[in-house]
Amino acid sequence: MIKKYVFGKPFPTQATIKEIEACTDKLPYFETNGEGVFTLPLRENDIVYGLGEQVRGINKKGWHYVSWNYDNPNHQEDTRSLYGSHNFLLISGKAKFGVFFDYAGKTEFDIGYTHRNLLTVKAAKNDLAVYIITGNSEKEIVKQFRELIGKSYVPPLWAFGYGQSRWGYRSEQDIREVAAKCKAAGIPLDSIYLDIDYMERYKDFTVDKERFPHLKALTAEMKEQGIHLVPIIDAGVKIEDGYEVYEEGVKNNYFCKNEQGGDFVGAVWPGRVHFPDFLNPMARKWFGGKYAVLTELGIDGFWNDMNEPAIFYTEDRLAETCDKIGKLDLNSMGIYEYFGFTGMVAGLNGNEGDYYKFYHNVDGKKVNHAEVHNLYGMNMTRAAFEALQEISPDKRTLFFSRASYIGAHRYGGIWQGDNKSWWSHLLQAMQQLPALNMAGFLFVGSDTGGFGADATEDIMLRWLQYAVFTPLFRNHSADGTRRQEPYVFDNCAACAEMIKIRYCLIPYIYSEFLKAVHNDEMMFKPLAFDFADDDMAKRVEDQLLVGNELMIAPVYQQNAVGRYVYLPEEMMLVRMKSYDSTSTEILPKGHHYIDVALDELVFFIRKDKAIPFARPAENTEKADMDALTMLGYSDSVYTLYSDDGISPDTENALAVKEIK
Ligand code: NOJ
Repeated sequence: MIKKYVFGKPFPTQATIKEIEACTDKLPYFETNGEGVFTLPLRENDIVYGLGEQVRGINKKGWHYVSWNYDNPNHQEDTRSLYGSHNFLLISGKAKFGVFFDYAGKTEFDIGYTHRNLLTVKAAKNDLAVYIITGNSEKEIVKQFRELIGKSYVPPLWAFGYGQSRWGYRSEQDIREVAAKCKAAGIPLDSIYLDIDYMERYKDFTVDKERFPHLKALTAEMKEQGIHLVPIIDAGVKIEDGYEVYEEGVKNNYFCKNEQGGDFVGAVWPGRVHFPDFLNPMARKWFGGKYAVLTELGIDGFWNDMNEPAIFYTEDRLAETCDKIGKLDLNSMGIYEYFGFTGMVAGLNGNEGDYYKFYHNVDGKKVNHAEVHNLYGMNMTRAAFEALQEISPDKRTLFFSRASYIGAHRYGGIWQGDNKSWWSHLLQAMQQLPALNMAGFLFVGSDTGGFGADATEDIMLRWLQYAVFTPLFRNHSADGTRRQEPYVFDNCAACAEMIKIRYCLIPYIYSEFLKAVHNDEMMFKPLAFDFADDDMAKRVEDQLLVGNELMIAPVYQQNAVGRYVYLPEEMMLVRMKSYDSTSTEILPKGHHYIDVALDELVFFIRKDKAIPFARPAENTEKADMDALTMLGYSDSVYTLYSDDGISPDTENALAVKEIK
C-alpha cells in the first residue's frame, strides 16, 4: 500500500506517474517538526537500503548523506554527495517499509551518524511530498514504488554490447585506430564514445572541422563494422557571438537567469557558458531539437554530461577571489592565510552558494535553482528523450546521463560518474546497483577500469569480471591517465576473453533486464531480498543476485587470489577462462573460500536453475541470439524475455518463451 503525505507546497518534480490523493492522517513511523525534519528511531539490527547513487555500503547505516547533485571526480568514503539524488529508503527490520522524500532541493540523510539509533532526514524547506510504502517483503515494497514512478527506460540492444571510450580520442584517425586494434585483438565492440574532443571548442551540437571533418562518413564506416559512435553533450552552452545555439537561447530567453534578469554565466569546459533552462518546457523542446544535428549524421546514441550542472566557477566569485588574493601580502603571509588562499581557490568549483544565484522559468514563475537543483540533469535527458521520439520515432536511441533524480529513469540510463581506478571504487560500483535498481535505474554501469587515476592490468581484469554483468558495459578513462583499452595490456587476450563471454551472456542479461523493466523488479538484488529468512544473507555486502538465476561475488582486492563467498543455498560454481572452456562444480550452502585466478570469470548459478548462453560475436548485430545452449542445472526451464532490440514500443515488442 502507498500513502502520500504532503507538507507545505511541494514543487511538481515529476518523479511519480500515478496520482495519489494526499492523506490527512498523521505521517506514520516518523516524527516531524513541521520544518522539513523527519526522525525515525532505528533498532540495532535494522537495515536501511536505498539512496541510489551514494557512497558506502548496501546497508546505508552509519553515515550522513546529502542529496545534492554534485560533480565530484575525487569522491571517497567521506564524500556526502554524488552525481545523482535518489531519495528512496527501504527500512528492513521489525517494521518494513519504503519511504520516498520527493524533494528536489538539498536533502540530508543522517542514518545513524549523529546517533547510532536515529535516522534524521532534513529537507531544506518544508515543501515536499513523503510517500510511505508498506508490503510483506522488500521486493513487494520495491515493486509498488517502481509502479508509482513508472517504467524504466529501455535502450537499444546494441547498447548492451561492449563500449570503448576515452576522453582524448581527438580525431577520426584515433577512432579508426580503436576499432582496428579491437578487431585485431579479437575484442568484440558495439560502440565507441566521442568525448568533448569531437566538438568545435566544446560547443554543443558542433563538430570540429579539422579533427572530425567527415563525421557522417565516419559514422557510416563504423556502422558497417557494427560500431555505433556515441557523442557526449554537455549542459553548458558556450557564450560566443555567431554560435547559433547561444544566439537562439539568448533571443528566446531559454537560459537560466541571474537575480537581475540577465542570462546567468558560469564556466565549464567551453569557458563562459549559459545554462539552458531545462525546467522550461519550451527550452527543453528547443534544446532537444538540436540533437537532430547529430542524428542527421547517423548518430543514434548520446551521453549527457556536466548536468548537475557542474560549474567550475562563476565570474562574481572568481573576481572576488582574485581581489582577495591580490590583497595578500606575500611577505607577511602566515600558514593560515596560505590555507585560506588555497581553500578559496579550491572552493570555486561547484560552490554551493552559486546555485542560489540563478533562476528557472516554470510556467511563468521565477523559481530559484537551489530549490529544484536535483531536477536539472533529469530534465536535460528528458529534453533529449522527448525530442528523439519525434526525430527518430521508429527506433530507440541510447541515452544516459550523469546527473539524475528519480523520474529520470524513464528517459535514459545513468553511468555512475567519475570513479577512479581504485579497488574501493570497484566495490562501490557494485554496492550502488541494488539501490539504483530500487529507484528505477536499470540501464546502469560504472566506468570499467576506473575513469581517473592510472589503471593496472589486474584492476582492469577484475573490473571486467564484474562489469560483464552490468547492462552498461563501457571502458572509459580520463585524459592524462594511462591508456586502458584492453589491447594496451600484456594480457590483452584475457581481457578479450572476458568481453567475449559478455556477449555469450547478453541473452540472459538482456532478458533479466527486460523482466526488471516490464515487471517493475530489480535486476541486482542483495542476497537478503531472495533469502529473507537467512540471517547470514542479510550481512553480505559484496555479493549480488543478478536476475533470478545468478549470483556474483567479484574479487575487488588487489593481489587477492580468491575470496570468501557465502552461498545461501546450494549453487553451481561456474569457472570460465574463455567462453568454450567452462568447468562447473556443485557447492553446498554455507561459507567457502573460492580461488579466482586473475584471468578467470567465476559466478554462481542458483539451485535448479540454468541460463541461456550464446556464442560470442564481433558485435550484437552479428550475434545469433537464437542459437542458445543452456548452462546450469540440467532439465531446468528458463523464461526468456526478448524483443527485436530496437522497437520503441517495448511493451508490444516483448516476446516471452520458456526454454530448456
Ligand atoms: C566529466 C565526465 O564525467 C567524464 O566522463 C568526461 O570524460 C569528462 N567530463 C570530459 O568530458
